[in-house]
Amino acid sequence: MNAFDLTGKTILITGASSGLGRQTALTVSEFGAKVVITGRDKKRLDETFQLLKGDGHLQLLADLTVQPELDQLVASLPVLNGVVHSTGISDLSPARYITADTIAKTFRISFDASVLLTAGLLGKKKLAKGNCSVVFISSISTRYPFVGGAMYISAKAALEAYARVLALELAPKKIRVNCVAPAFVRTPMLDETAANYSQEAVNMIEARQILGLGDPVDVANSIVYYLSDASKWVSATSLVLGGG
Ligand SMILES: NC(=O)c1ccc[n+]([C@@H]2O[C@H](COP(=O)([O-])OP(=O)(O)OC[C@H]3O[C@@H](n4cnc5c(N)ncnc54)[C@H](OP(=O)(O)O)[C@@H]3O)[C@@H](O)[C@H]2O)c1
Repeated sequence: MNAFDLTGKTILITGASSGLGRQTALTVSEFGAKVVITGRDKKRLDETFQLLKGDGHLQLLADLTVQPELDQLVASLPVLNGVVHSTGISDLSPARYITADTIAKTFRISFDASVLLTAGLLGKKKLAKGNCSVVFISSISTRYPFVGGAMYISAKAALEAYARVLALELAPKKIRVNCVAPAFVRTPMLDETAANYSQEAVNMIEARQILGLGDPVDVANSIVYYLSDASKWVSATSLVLGGG
């Protein structure tokens, strides 16, 4: 038996219409899992759906910052063996320009949505006891910050702290909780950063990562480890994927 095999597991992946979530959905399906993918953009979510290997997968549209949509999503889900939280925005702002709206905008999707989704899943008993793994996507920037990233990085740091508490609370049910903390990876989010700042800024970031920019599959493969039985004794960790 291959300990990384995901056959027989059902995994929910948020942010699956793009970037790391899309690649994770594809890779997880290649390892044999049935996946439930969610996102807001119908066309791009369907593009992900068409890429999935195997059958029995589901796609459900939801804006996770809208409570009734989140509730509807939870109600439509089967019992899960894993959840990957891959939503986020990179709305960068120097400290002096941060307003209440800036804080709310970033935290609503990068923190609140994952926390409220988890509460909903627990409340409706959608996480399988005995064999379940929850993975949050944090960021290496919680260790190596960058100028303008105060809200993005604060939300990720809050998510990591939350994940450690959740790991404690769910350990008696043998539900594991971990984070991956990637450095910069080639996704639409990075393209947006390049557009908002400059290509030079992205080139500088690339030069700082001695193995260069990551590919989404580099992150997806580490998530497979956390979802699989290979990590059945691993909880409350955060794996830095730093490109060196
Ligand atoms: N790319 C990197 O270099 C990098 C590095 C470290 C950490 N991360 C983290 O990894 C995660 C994924 O990043 P990515 O690069 O894959 O970004 P991305 O390509 O921009 O994808 C973001 C995803 O979040 C979803 N989303 C945004 N707002 C939403 C909302 N209100 N409700 C539901 N879904 C929503 C988007 O769905 P729709 O498009 O359908 O709205 C999209 O699927 C983020 O948490 C990010 O902070 C990324």
